[in-house]
Amino acid sequence: MKPVLVSGIQPSGKLHIGNYLGALKNFTGLQNSEDYQCYFFIADLHSITEAFDPKEKRKQIIELCADYLAAGLDPKKSVLFIQSKVAAHSELSWILNTITPMGELERMTQFKDKSLRQEENINAGLFDYPVLMAADIILYDARTVPVGDDQLQHLELTRTLARKFNAKFGQTFIEPKGLLTKTPRVMSLKDPTKKMSKSQPEGCLFLDDEPEAIKAKVSRAVTDSGTAIAYDPEHRPGLANLLEIYAALTHLEPRAIAAEFDGESYAELKRKLAALVAGHFAEFRMKKKKLLASPATVMKVFDAGSKKATKIADAKIAEVKKKVGFVA
Ligand code: AMP
Ligand code: TRP
Repeated sequence: MKPVLVSGIQPSGKLHIGNYLGALKNFTGLQNSEDYQCYFFIADLHSITEAFDPKEKRKQIIELCADYLAAGLDPKKSVLFIQSKVAAHSELSWILNTITPMGELERMTQFKDKSLRQEENINAGLFDYPVLMAADIILYDARTVPVGDDQLQHLELTRTLARKFNAKFGQTFIEPKGLLTKTPRVMSLKDPTKKMSKSQPEGCLFLDDEPEAIKAKVSRAVTDSGTAIAYDPEHRPGLANLLEIYAALTHLEPRAIAAEFDGESYAELKRKLAALVAGHFAEFRMKKKKLLASPATVMKVFDAGSKKATKIADAKIAEVKKKVGFVA
């Protein structure tokens, strides 16, 4: 049996190049390596911890499904599913709640950040978010979880909960590990000290952006007042971020890219980077448009995957219910 790998993304708006280089690109690479049994899902339950409109939510779910397929996730190779269609995620998260110390959740950076961003909506789901994430992962006995570095703290809690459950009720769960890409934290084009995030769309390059939009955003990307191109993340974070994006899309090292641009201007680097990004996602954009022309076909793929995931998850939740004494 191949080791299990699980990951998900929230359907809460367009994907940006941070989501791609930190997560989605890795998903397809890992799937195609055939080293793992892969499960990739749409984290719709997580996404309702932020303000949303139900009609819009449905669209966001369909769009993210199309993103997964357009990026190369393949239902023949991976189980592709929708979190809310597999009831065991919610059931396990409730049971895990009862072994989760409040103090652990209070320490979560993402909760603290989001509480500041949405002061009028600090709901219990937002607080409890990492427990549902733990359930998503350990339900499938996953060993590996490809994510961006902002999720590592949640994975630490996942391991703690798996360990705690095992100690209390007997060996049931595997302690998973995170898997990062070379670009686990792509920075905002507007402010290279902050990570690229959909909460600040001005600093994002979206995968759907047309070449003109990409060109405009990259040319306005904040750099520094220097002129020579060099890779120096500490002192020149804006330039380093551009070089890292360039490197990730060409499978080279940022230093090698800097050397290639030796003697050229920032404007020249930006021009070539914009063309590289636009070209890289041309096929993605085309495939996504085609997929979205028949949303029912896209959803069929995820409905079938959700049935497969339910089978695996139901077996695990039955075992959990036995362990805690709900059934004989
Ligand atoms: P989210 O949109 O929050 O569901 O994030 C989906 C995935 O993208 C997660 O694995 C994140 O860790 C990753 N991610 C989000 N923003 C970035 C970023 N700026 N750089 C790298 N990875 C990111
Ligand atoms: N919390 C993740 C994010 O914001 C999404 C997510 C939910 C996830 N459940 C997961 C990622 C399980 C990996 C595994 O990016």
